[in-house]
Amino acid sequence: MGGSFSGRVAAGSAVSGSAVSGPTVRLRRLRKNGGVRRLFEETTVELRHLVQPYFVVPGRDVWRESAPGTGLWQVSADRLIDEVAPLVGAGAGGVMLFGVPATKRDDGGGLEEQLSPLRAATEALRRAYPELPLFADVCLCSYTTHGHCGLVHDGVIDNDASLAVLARMAVLLGQWGIDFVSPSDMMDGRVAAIRRALDDARLHDTGILSYAVKMASAFYGPFRDAALSAPQFGDRKTYQMPAGNRREARREWMLDVDEGADALLVKPALTNLDVLREARDGCDLPLFAYQVSGERAMLVAAAEKGQLDLRRAMDECLVSMRRAGADAIVTYEARERVRRP
Ligand code: PBG
Repeated sequence: MGGSFSGRVAAGSAVSGSAVSGPTVRLRRLRKNGGVRRLFEETTVELRHLVQPYFVVPGRDVWRESAPGTGLWQVSADRLIDEVAPLVGAGAGGVMLFGVPATKRDDGGGLEEQLSPLRAATEALRRAYPELPLFADVCLCSYTTHGHCGLVHDGVIDNDASLAVLARMAVLLGQWGIDFVSPSDMMDGRVAAIRRALDDARLHDTGILSYAVKMASAFYGPFRDAALSAPQFGDRKTYQMPAGNRREARREWMLDVDEGADALLVKPALTNLDVLREARDGCDLPLFAYQVSGERAMLVAAAEKGQLDLRRAMDECLVSMRRAGADAIVTYEARERVRRP
């Protein structure tokens, strides 16, 4: 690698006649101490870039981690205000709410009742923190018994019938005060359908953060336990993307731009840094990375074995997402940063 290049550097130092031969260009000058390194740091991760997910469950006084160490917090609406207070105080980027309904239904009906914990959470947060950016997931997997992200008819995920339900969910969330509804279902045409429904409901200021590129991934495991959303038959491969398809990923986010998304999201983050970079270079919308539950679980497991330092490994992952082009990151690490800055 670089044979002629290193030769040129060596020749240069010889020509300059320096007493001690060696490289003229020394990048280590830029790293020589903490002050110099800080001055030339190109990419940073700040709390304002981080969005913390919560799983909003029915009931009162619920506050539990889905399993020890996951960082996936299930919380009832009444406890959310206090939990979020330190995040707001420290200037975190926002909060992403996932609803876990009391009962599941497969016909797309009864949405208002299913969403009632989410409504209480949204309205309370909106009142307490008028300027805290609020995101809410739009998807059917937690709301149906089969755990698929759309409606199922005769064992097949019915794309177009699902759009109406997703759009209705988005309108309700918008009415309650969500800033950006966040469709993660991966049905075709959902961004356009949601935009139309929001506008018809005069929710012109409710935005759409689209999960534009969402791979069918092994890294969602801990999330599905927390959201009670694991598919009960088959898998998600007819709607989530194959991990190896770069051109198809571009078509996904380009479509969402055309359909009126306000911001785009790519997930998992760490396995899709190239996709993030391509989206960053290819459009000017704000771009999110989602460091998903399995990405965190990997680091936590290795740290528990004493194989790596969790904080440093986490920092390295997050900064690589920002370097790849993410403006913001949805991550379970946000509240950890507030608790242990
Ligand atoms: C719901 C959804 C999933 C995640 C975010 N929204 C899971 C899935 O598609 O099965 C995963 C997030 C995580 O793993 O942290 N469709």
